[in-house]
Amino acid sequence: MGILSQLLTISFSFGITVFCQYEDNSFEYEYESEMDNEYPPIFHNIPNLEYTIPYFTLPVECAKECFCPPTFPASMYCDQRNLQIIPSIPAHIQQVYLQHNNIEAVSVESFVNATSLKEINLSHNKIKSHMIDTGVFAKLSNLVQLHLERNLLEEVPFPLPISLERLILGFNQISRFSSKAVEGLINVTMLDLCNNHLEDSQLRRIRFSSMRNLMQINLCNNRLQSMPPDLPPSLMYLSLENNSISSIPDNYFQKLPKLMALRMSYNNLHEVAHNAFNLSNLVELNLGHNNLKQLFYIPRSLQHLYIEDNDIEVINVTLMCPSIDPLNFSHLTYIRVDQNKLTAPISTYAFFCFPHVRSIYYGEQKIRGNQQTQLRTPVFRRYLTPEEYDEAEDDHETQEHDSDQREMDDDYFNPYLY
Ligand SMILES: *[C@@H]1O[C@H](CO)[C@@H](O)[C@H](O)[C@H]1NC(C)=O
Ligand SMILES: *[C@@H]1O[C@H](CO)[C@@H](O)[C@H](O)[C@H]1NC(C)=O
Ligand SMILES: *[C@@H]1O[C@H](CO)[C@@H](O)[C@H](O)[C@H]1NC(C)=O
Ligand SMILES: *[C@@H]1O[C@H](CO)[C@@H](O)[C@H](O)[C@H]1NC(C)=O
Ligand SMILES: *[C@@H]1O[C@H](CO)[C@@H](O)[C@H](O)[C@H]1NC(C)=O
Ligand SMILES: *[C@@H]1O[C@H](CO)[C@@H](O)[C@H](O)[C@H]1NC(C)=O
Ligand SMILES: *[C@@H]1O[C@H](CO)[C@@H](O)[C@H](O)[C@H]1NC(C)=O
Repeated sequence: MGILSQLLTISFSFGITVFCQYEDNSFEYEYESEMDNEYPPIFHNIPNLEYTIPYFTLPVECAKECFCPPTFPASMYCDQRNLQIIPSIPAHIQQVYLQHNNIEAVSVESFVNATSLKEINLSHNKIKSHMIDTGVFAKLSNLVQLHLERNLLEEVPFPLPISLERLILGFNQISRFSSKAVEGLINVTMLDLCNNHLEDSQLRRIRFSSMRNLMQINLCNNRLQSMPPDLPPSLMYLSLENNSISSIPDNYFQKLPKLMALRMSYNNLHEVAHNAFNLSNLVELNLGHNNLKQLFYIPRSLQHLYIEDNDIEVINVTLMCPSIDPLNFSHLTYIRVDQNKLTAPISTYAFFCFPHVRSIYYGEQKIRGNQQTQLRTPVFRRYLTPEEYDEAEDDHETQEHDSDQREMDDDYFNPYLY
């Protein structure tokens, strides 16, 4: 299975992807609709079933405020009903949808019989941390997914059941994180904490590595100044956009050999070690909107490189590609370098090292002050196969074509579309 199909599989199996952090920023138009899919629509998000399916007597118990579709009797839909209290959840229910209500508390009484629960969606409510009864979730020994995004939580809830696999806590006001919160959560694969108020000091004591199956951690839009400590070697997706991280410790990623996507745009990086991203599985690297002056070693696996809005004056191909292995070319296909300080396009020597590059977006460059300028080629595109490319290169055909075509192909921004 190729890297891309792996990536595809994973991004589908993850209901939430690291796309979320672009939701409210001005680049939305370039990332287009894909970015709005904060939580891709999936089957169970169908609140109005009751109006489309002819009504008949329900064979099984269901809270009177809610709807349990006869065709999916293990699911209980209680979303968008102005509920203030979680109804009592019957014993056979496996999925309960309580999103978009005015729920302020999670009390033990609602869950006394709910021993089969696998999935709870409590997103878009008004739950504060102290209104969650202690241990209410921990007792649900089959719980796999817990959605608490867009509430008023101040703290990562704990204790949680050790069966938990996905914990979604984005868009709260979380500034407290007890080291006990991750204890024993060996099955967690996805932890989303984007859009909270986390600082370095809260993460320092967290043994993330005890979550030894963790594949994705989202910490975008927090207040971190340094890289999160102690991440487990299982990690494949790391989202840290829009924090205030100013450096990456030496060999930081050596402990994360499986990393496939790293998103660190909107931080304060001034420099990174030349070999910082020497990672054999890295496919996507986003370092846009930092203060980098220099490029770095590009691992062979990398396909998409985003370094827009930095302070790069020259793209030093020797730094990106110290040596060429003609039997084992780099996979790089897309580079975004607009809003830097480039005065010339990347040297054509780059295409020996990166023969699969299909598009380079130069856009506008900032020369001095706020002055914008454009290279003669705002977008470099190539639709040829590597073999065709080599021939064209010999005939000097490949430079600066499509120079008027400024629209960007959305596909190049979205590795998950392939
Ligand atoms: C729990 O289930 C028992 C037995 O079915 C029932 O008598 C009781 O009312 C239920 N409790 C709640 C809070 O729903
Ligand atoms: C939970 O609710 C949110 C808000 O409506 C929705 O976007 C999301 O798809 C739901 N997720 C799951 C897994 O039910
Ligand atoms: C963790 O996941 C594995 C594999 O899916 C499963 O066999 C195991 O029972 C889970 N552990 C808990 C505590 O649910
Ligand atoms: C970064 O986060 C701040 C709040 O912490 C928010 O106001 C701002 O819009 C975010 N910027 C981006 C580009 O997401
Ligand atoms: C990358 O790491 C490998 C070992 O994992 C090493 O042999 C190679 O020299 C490194 N490359 C760079 C540019 O640091
Ligand atoms: C590019 O980087 C190499 C290796 O660090 C260095 O020797 C060379 O002088 C650099 N070239 C430019 C134009 O900065
Ligand atoms: C290509 O390079 C990677 C690491 O850079 C290595 O793991 C792989 O074995 C190489 N493949 C061939 C055919 O040389």
